[in-house]
Amino acid sequence: MSEIQEAPFEGLSLERLYEILRLRVEVFVVEQKCPYREIDNADFGAIHVWTDDEQGLASYLRVIKEEDHCRIGRVLTRANARSKGLSRKLIQHVLDGTDGPWVLSAQSYLRDWYGNLGFTQNGAEFLEDGIPHIPMLRECEEIGES
Ligand SMILES: CC(C)(COP(=O)(O)OP(=O)(O)OC[C@H]1O[C@@H](n2cnc3c(N)ncnc32)[C@H](O)[C@@H]1OP(=O)(O)O)[C@@H](O)C(=O)NCCC(=O)NCCS
Repeated sequence: MSEIQEAPFEGLSLERLYEILRLRVEVFVVEQKCPYREIDNADFGAIHVWTDDEQGLASYLRVIKEEDHCRIGRVLTRANARSKGLSRKLIQHVLDGTDGPWVLSAQSYLRDWYGNLGFTQNGAEFLEDGIPHIPMLRECEEIGES
């Protein structure tokens, strides 16, 4: 398992960018059976964070600085690399290395999963591309707490 790596859009190699987009489409469009605009212009201003394993890209997320908070998105782990703590480690890496507060739109089924990372729901559930989501927030003062 590789160390966590990160890069801005312009720091990604073509091969890495292709691998990221391919896995995002594989998970969010194909696996979740959701035809939506997965490739959006938000990638240009994002920091891309990932880990590799022997099969290539294993876990990924992106972070976008917005006004007074950081937005975490596109959180995924390749299907056959799940339940090893990879996504949790990537999010913890972001919480340790960036200024909060942090926000995200969680798929509603993951409320408790993000809750274990210190996020709390801060708005009503909504449908995005047909999938139920909830807005979640983690405040800065929780840094370092488990
Ligand atoms: C959600 C996802 C990113 C988690 O990735 P992961 O690397 O497997 O996550 P971790 O190993 O850090 O955590 C998994 C653990 O979280 C816990 N967990 C999983 N789903 C949970 C849920 N709905 N509620 C509470 N805890 C949950 C479990 O303890 C699980 O371990 P287990 O499978 O051994 O029981 C991954 O399943 C995935 O890519 N899903 C599809 C894409 C997606 O929905 N992304 C989130 C968009 S908001």
